Amino acid sequence: MKKLAIFVSLFLTVTLTAQPPADSKMKVFVAALMKKMTIDEKIGQLNLVTPGGAVTGSVVSTDVEAKIKKGEVGGLFGITGPDRIQQAQKLAVENSRLKIPLLFGLDVIHGHKTVFPIPIGLSCSWDMDLIERSARIAAIEGTADGLNWTFSPMVDIARDPRWGRVSEGSGEDPYLGSRIAEAMVKGYQGDDLSKDNTMLACVKHFALYGAAEGGRDYNTVDMSRVRMYNEYLPPYKAAVDAGVATVMSSFNVIDGIPATGNKWLLTDMLRKQWGFTGLVVSDYTSVNEMTNHGVGDLQKVSGLSLSAGLDMDMVGEGFLTTLKKSLTEGKVTQKAIEDACARVLEAKYKLGLFDDPYRYCNEERAKTQILSQAHRKAAREIAAKSFVLLKNENQILPLKKTGKIALVGPLADSRRNMLGTWSVAGDWQKSVTVIEGMKSVASGANILYAKGANISDDSIFAKKVNVFGVEIDIDKRSSEEMIREAVDIANQSEVIVAVMGEAADMTGEASSMADISLPESQKNLLRALAKTGKPIVLVLFNGRPMTLKWENENLSAILDVWFGGTESGNAIADVLFGDYSPSGKLSMSFPVHVGQIPVYHSQLNTGRPYAGEESSKFKSNYLDIPNEPLFPFGYGLSYTSFSYSDLKIDKVTLNTTGKIVASITVANNGKVAGQETVQLYIRDVVGSISRPMKELKRFAKVNLNAGESKTVDFEITVNDLKFYNSDLKLVAEPGDFKIFVGGNSRDVKESAFKFVQ
Ligand code: NOJ
Repeated sequence: MKKLAIFVSLFLTVTLTAQPPADSKMKVFVAALMKKMTIDEKIGQLNLVTPGGAVTGSVVSTDVEAKIKKGEVGGLFGITGPDRIQQAQKLAVENSRLKIPLLFGLDVIHGHKTVFPIPIGLSCSWDMDLIERSARIAAIEGTADGLNWTFSPMVDIARDPRWGRVSEGSGEDPYLGSRIAEAMVKGYQGDDLSKDNTMLACVKHFALYGAAEGGRDYNTVDMSRVRMYNEYLPPYKAAVDAGVATVMSSFNVIDGIPATGNKWLLTDMLRKQWGFTGLVVSDYTSVNEMTNHGVGDLQKVSGLSLSAGLDMDMVGEGFLTTLKKSLTEGKVTQKAIEDACARVLEAKYKLGLFDDPYRYCNEERAKTQILSQAHRKAAREIAAKSFVLLKNENQILPLKKTGKIALVGPLADSRRNMLGTWSVAGDWQKSVTVIEGMKSVASGANILYAKGANISDDSIFAKKVNVFGVEIDIDKRSSEEMIREAVDIANQSEVIVAVMGEAADMTGEASSMADISLPESQKNLLRALAKTGKPIVLVLFNGRPMTLKWENENLSAILDVWFGGTESGNAIADVLFGDYSPSGKLSMSFPVHVGQIPVYHSQLNTGRPYAGEESSKFKSNYLDIPNEPLFPFGYGLSYTSFSYSDLKIDKVTLNTTGKIVASITVANNGKVAGQETVQLYIRDVVGSISRPMKELKRFAKVNLNAGESKTVDFEITVNDLKFYNSDLKLVAEPGDFKIFVGGNSRDVKESAFKFVQ
């Protein structure tokens, strides 16, 4: 591949300096390059544009080609394909004065062309190897398609299912979220960013974006520092500790200051306290949006953001158009511009782009690796492991591969909706539908199909959801006629499989919902089907926890399949027909009622604790509904049943250097093999601040054959007891601790120990 002549002399200088460590080699290289750059070229490196295809706001980049040639662009996102990317890269390395290669980014969120389950689904696998593998495959395909930067992982802790972006994250828990953040960073970046199949990861949205008021996207966040440090910041920190190369700032304010221009966040905490040395990019026009937040005009907010520690401005071009003026007027420093520019160049250096700007453009790799059989096979397995069985009365599942099955519902034959939100490069036409999967896995069964209902009958709502294509397809037939047809085939069948739920883009960015129950059209269908008296299995597509009280009371089984990606239909059939026993566990609690939100397992006890459904006056509860979720965090059934022995601990006292081993024996009491996720929670009974009633601290996945039992040992040390106190110091305080172990956050065995210093 082509080398850049202009840099040969620089490389020679570097190689002659007696093998300095890679980092200082990079610094020398970047410093030498920056000496040649004008201030305009330095500011140009801070500009990230999209020529289309990845528009998530009202502003779109213009004159991209001319700007690249003028050295006014540092990176591009939203295009794919080795040929297109090579073409764009050529503009930079053959036509710009200094021939500095571009970064190429994309939202590779849950797979690239082989699409995996949406992140909340992936998180329900609680399987870090599996999640890392999904990110690895995404990076292999993304880089084969010309990319070198993904805007993932999204690690925002979220406890409000009205917020559509819960689909993009890993749920409510900081410990689980942190482990997933590490796994994803490892998967994307591997151990060497200069390899042609690894890419820069970008942890987002920094920070606290998941706590938007009322679940409304882009909305206000306001929380105590104690909550931030203990509950919301850990996953970002875990990604930084895992070596994530880039960070994206969020849209929200923190303590009233937009994150994108928040110096406390981006410099004092991220860089100084956490030691992050990589690149910080804004979210889509989040610099400009600071004017709407009311903190200044474009010049002012651009200066604020740069000075706060932001390096790259996504799409808005506030940096490009105002920083030079601010420099002349003494409102920003030359050093701030140079530091930001150096970080962009360092990211390029780490990727090896100065060595070979086309290293990610390889048609052959694209042809052989993208959507390969091996990747599709992995997608099928990973999808099956993300599904959560919420109910299975009388062991109605797994289904027999014979007999008559009524397959109904608007998502049973909806290729458009299989991939889920944020599958930018995914081709929905390559996905497997539920009807196809069922027919291929159970070719001996007689599967009768009727759509039965539209996802929603509301055409105005459908128009808002259908911005990326027709996901809600409103049938020409009346709802009565569709229901009649479904009831008719239900009457002829032994069991009804109802494939229902949300359209793919009813969650994701800008997809907040006030009502998180099934749309009325689908409820009507279910009510009519229930009257047939036939058992109903609900296969639920959803990007958020939904309220399912009626469904739980009236249906035989509920299998939550999220949005499973390219192999959805096959994976669903594998589980429905028992080729794989479901093993997913919820990473987010499912409320009984939308009015309970936020509902999550690590709540504080309060001064007037909830005392169960019967208790009412002068307690922290509702008069009309219980406090408990319908399905708690960590919950999920399997086709077998597991029992837990009593919880044993080897000591009742822990000191600062020792450890306690907590042991529990889990038995598979059923007739089939299964996988159980054993979860350990801790409660710090008395602290200098009020501490959560349960905090997840460990989990382990165990495979158990029918009749088999295994003992799981968890080691607990002082580090597991630490939290940020009101001075924001990380401390473990002496006193009593409770320890809980079980198959979900509600049904647990308990023990206790004392921590002494
Ligand atoms: C806006 C979204 O908030 C962010 O997650 C995404 O990476 C960017 N748009 C780029 O598409």
